[in-house]
Amino acid sequence: MRALTGIKPTDAPHIGNLLGMIEPALRLAEQHESYYFIADYHALTTLHDAKRMRQHTREVAASWLALGLDPKKSCLFVQSDVPEVQELTWMLACVTGVGLLERAHAYKAAQDRNQDINVGVFTYPVLMAADILIYDSNLVPVGKDQKQHVEMARDMAISFNARFGPTLVVPEPLIREDVATIPGLDGQKMSKSYNNTIPVFCSSKELRKKVMQIQTDSKGMDEVKDPDTCNVFALYRFFASPEQQAELAARYRAPGLGYGHAKQALFEAMEARLAAPRERYEALLTRPEELEEILQDGAVRAQHLARNTMQRVREACGFLPTLRTAR
Ligand code: ADP
Ligand code: TRP
Repeated sequence: MRALTGIKPTDAPHIGNLLGMIEPALRLAEQHESYYFIADYHALTTLHDAKRMRQHTREVAASWLALGLDPKKSCLFVQSDVPEVQELTWMLACVTGVGLLERAHAYKAAQDRNQDINVGVFTYPVLMAADILIYDSNLVPVGKDQKQHVEMARDMAISFNARFGPTLVVPEPLIREDVATIPGLDGQKMSKSYNNTIPVFCSSKELRKKVMQIQTDSKGMDEVKDPDTCNVFALYRFFASPEQQAELAARYRAPGLGYGHAKQALFEAMEARLAAPRERYEALLTRPEELEEILQDGAVRAQHLARNTMQRVREACGFLPTLRTAR
């Protein structure tokens, strides 16, 4: 089986990205062939700043590596290094109804937020389907918000195959239900769009400051508290062992625990998990040549797969192989 997923370089990754997508994807990579990429074409729908695009592309690449991606086993690459994906986007656009794209949650949400949406936002799911289908992916680990997009990729593969014969592999989304949505500082879904994120990689001091900003109710030290409705505990679950969780939950249910104590426990658990990757991350960012080499190698491997698929797809559509036979 082949796993594939992408993350947009619109910013450095946050804890929602880490728990909802990056960690599950890294676990999948232990058992399956894996193609993980930085979705810069997708980021271009909203990020129109070359300097930030370059910086965040490097940050996302360094994050994958610092968190344990082995570039010899997994293929790590930048989406735009395989421009063949744009050709497949067109082929899929020609078998996709406008109505399907009009039903996309992300498009509808963008419409609700502003009046002026670019064509890229509308066709976003077609490019995403091309990403998935061009690498013959079977498993697509994503957070819950991306599930509809993967289902659309399935629809597009089925619709292409129905017209042109079996050509494209039909993929599956893969979402761990217990981590489907990681809450942010305010308890809403953690998202760059809501300004409520905790970065994966920041200094220990900044991490502590962010954790201290998590919103809680105003219960005092002597009141008993409910871990199941607390934003601090919701994150603690992902960083602490079952024993640590049971112990902190018991302290919530008895008088004497202030939210400051719970936040300190969360900070310490996060720090224990993130301190070593943080050092690797910072070191990688000081060696852009090493990053570049890894991404170049990934691009070559990804392009090889993409070209094979495009040959199949072009033939299936009835495009003449003029240049190939002339060569
Ligand atoms: P954002 O919502 O901050 O813009 P992205 O859209 O770049 O995040 O998400 C990249 C990946 O991380 C996607 O697979 C997405 O589903 C996952 N993800 C993002 N935020 C969360 C969250 N709060 N909980 C779980 N998964 C998330
Ligand atoms: N749309 C995804 C996001 O916003 C990123 C992405 C682009 C992706 N292409 C993909 C994810 C292909 C999985 C598969 O998070």
